[in-house]
Amino acid sequence: MLVLGIESSCDETAASIVEDGRFILSNVVSSQETIHAPYGGVVPEIASRHHLISLMPVIRAAIEPVGDPSAIDVIAVTNGPGLVGSLLVGIQGAKTLAWVWGKKLVAVNHLEAHLRAPFTGYPAAPPPLPPRRHLSLLVSGGHTILFLVDGDRREIIGATRDDAAGEAFDKVAKMLGLGYPGGRVIDQLSHQGDPHRYRLPRGLHKRGGLDFSFSGLKTAVLQLIGTLGDAVTEEIPNICASFQEAVVDSLVSKTAEALTTHAVDAVVMAGGVAANGGLRKAMESLCHARGIDFLVPPVPLCTDNAAMVASLGYELACSGAFSGSDLNAFSSSLWSRRGELRHPRGR
Ligand SMILES: Nc1ncnc2c1ncn2[C@@H]1O[C@H](COP(=O)(O)OP(=O)(O)OP(=O)(O)O)[C@@H](O)[C@H]1O
Ligand SMILES: [Mg+2]
Repeated sequence: MLVLGIESSCDETAASIVEDGRFILSNVVSSQETIHAPYGGVVPEIASRHHLISLMPVIRAAIEPVGDPSAIDVIAVTNGPGLVGSLLVGIQGAKTLAWVWGKKLVAVNHLEAHLRAPFTGYPAAPPPLPPRRHLSLLVSGGHTILFLVDGDRREIIGATRDDAAGEAFDKVAKMLGLGYPGGRVIDQLSHQGDPHRYRLPRGLHKRGGLDFSFSGLKTAVLQLIGTLGDAVTEEIPNICASFQEAVVDSLVSKTAEALTTHAVDAVVMAGGVAANGGLRKAMESLCHARGIDFLVPPVPLCTDNAAMVASLGYELACSGAFSGSDLNAFSSSLWSRRGELRHPRGR
């Protein structure tokens, strides 16, 4: 089955064709990063206008490898959580194409789609199949959640109580004048700095169960910047390395704690922050020491893309979870804090 995935929840316009939920035949991403950079964050109105400009060229490029739309079986589109104006552009495009081409439509939850990315890959390097029982860590721009997964059952066992890990990277980068988004640049600058130069707080260390907290760390960086005064410029690599070390330490130590109470075969990590070099290395070492698998998508599939949307769309199509022309967007999900997923499929 060939699924066309469409993603427009934030500042990436993306389309992808995935076969049988696993094999990527095309994956096109048009990022608006440089457009929003001068504002230090995504401007919703500008984002939706650019999705309008990019959507059809991106979809056209994605379907090129399969020849023509008749080969496509299903259209999957992200309908939330995200920026409503941006989501509506992708949804309207998907509805129109489904009607014109006579295809079925499925609605995909963006966060659930991130969790599919580790099991989506190119035919030349087949991706792993999901292990039956595993821990799944979603670390993205808006979410930090630890799940215990057992077959089809997914239980939230930890979540951030304040900022998401990606949000902390972006805010610290802004404080240091490093632009938007901040994760990748902090990751790069960390290589030139000493991670032990500044001892920064690890939120909820040895307390708070498996929950995370990053707001105290963010405040500590702000205070450090104030204390350093003019000396801050030459200290930027050390601040980046020390900050990244604190985030990685928090994520890895809570995952280690979860592994002591839950017997699992693997740790799976997804979302934009899963692209972080230091985090990938530290989580790999933890899993190696515990004798379990560590599964993480290749870096380009960590941040927003449509391959993960098409992949989850296949599963939904197999279960008959189709949407109609009344499909709408939704902006937020209770997944950002503890609790149940209020919009199971966002329909
Ligand atoms: N190498 C990296 N190291 C750390 N963080 C990174 C890296 N690359 C990207 N990020 C962060 O990942 C985030 C973007 O990831 P993602 O696309 O998953 O978020 P989002 O879609 O905005 O949020 P969500 O998926 O929660 O709705 C940004 O916060 C960015 O700074
Ligand atoms: Mg995302």
